[in-house]
Amino acid sequence: MDMESLKDLFIEELKDLYSAENQILKALPKMIRKATSPELKSGFEQHLKETEVQVERLEKIFQELEQSPKGKKCKGMEGVIADGKELMEEEAEPEVMDAGLIGAAQHVEHYEIAGYGCVRTYAELLGYHDFAKLLQKTLDEERATDEKLTELARNINVEAARTAA
Ligand SMILES: [Fe+2]
Ligand SMILES: [Fe+2]
Repeated sequence: MDMESLKDLFIEELKDLYSAENQILKALPKMIRKATSPELKSGFEQHLKETEVQVERLEKIFQELEQSPKGKKCKGMEGVIADGKELMEEEAEPEVMDAGLIGAAQHVEHYEIAGYGCVRTYAELLGYHDFAKLLQKTLDEERATDEKLTELARNINVEAARTAA
């Protein structure tokens, strides 16, 4: 596709995010199964539900733009998730695995935060104020998830550190 305008870039980036979110929908159930800490498990479960709504928000925007959300694979998220998969294949103490899962999840959230920050701003510049609001909602959820993971890491990383000896 030719990118002649900010609108073209906006749509391309939205497609990337749509692909990224769908990859996350597939990865999160595996992370839920792999996590040991009940708080971490339930945090992932909650974010899985949020992610389903985030996909619906993107679909709504595509519908209103009369565009298809499909046709792009987000290679960045593919790489971030591949790193997480590699981690999950390791033999690790449960606390250490949980610490690793938090790190993997934070990479995902930071990637999303960058993406949603961009498309939210493009939407504002293009005058799509309703889209900007929807994208801001998702951005807020990604940020809240990242903060929650940081909070969980405070305990889980300490438990992982006890396995040092
Ligand atoms: Fe998301
Ligand atoms: Fe997320």
